[in-house]
Amino acid sequence: MLSLFSKKQSQKIEYPLTTDIHSHLLPGIDDGVKTLEESIAVISQLAELGYRKLITTPHISSDRFPNTPDIILSKLAEVRTALEERNILVKVEAAAEYYLNEALMERLYQNEPLLTFGKNYLLFETNFMVEPFALKDFIFKASSAGYQLVFAHPERYAYMTVEKAADIRDRGVLLQVNLPSLLGYYSKSIQQLAYKMIDKRLVDFLGSDCHNANYAALAKEAHLNKYFVKAMNLPLHNHNI
Ligand SMILES: [Fe+2]
Repeated sequence: MLSLFSKKQSQKIEYPLTTDIHSHLLPGIDDGVKTLEESIAVISQLAELGYRKLITTPHISSDRFPNTPDIILSKLAEVRTALEERNILVKVEAAAEYYLNEALMERLYQNEPLLTFGKNYLLFETNFMVEPFALKDFIFKASSAGYQLVFAHPERYAYMTVEKAADIRDRGVLLQVNLPSLLGYYSKSIQQLAYKMIDKRLVDFLGSDCHNANYAALAKEAHLNKYFVKAMNLPLHNHNI
């Protein structure tokens, strides 16, 4: 049961979003949290918001963040141990946010196993300014290989429109909107596109894209946004993983 009150009405807020699928909470391997202590602190902040499961998704991009499944899973083990030692009960799992480039296409061609979550969900992002030449080819190849693609924050790309988002979704890709987008954190136009996507029911997942304590605070604020409530009335896949 969705029950949201403004701060003025009540201090008790019941948060219905209990699974997050996009964040950078493993220490020191991308542009997210830097230390184990910061990781634990931010995870605790998210747990206080009502999250019970956090699927964290470090960047994998051959140039900037050359992470591997082994690096990610060994960091995950470290964080889980620290959480257990502190008796913090939130469940943390890991996948990755893959950057679409030639190296990723090559991995796909070579059948190299990629880190997924839930129902073989593969989270990916692209260049922020220019639509990658290979985007549609990637969608076809990855889907044919059995991956269920999840497009990270489509509203944030300069090349994105609501029509293009609908076309990509029609190709079988699930769309994940970022919580900070709902607040206008990145820009007004990104906020507007996120709102339009929610109005047109083109959103399949919400994600915090949490990188640090500041983003955890943004997630808290976003949970009170009217478009968050609207999105929560869509059949989000967050609830089924
Ligand atoms: Fe991200």
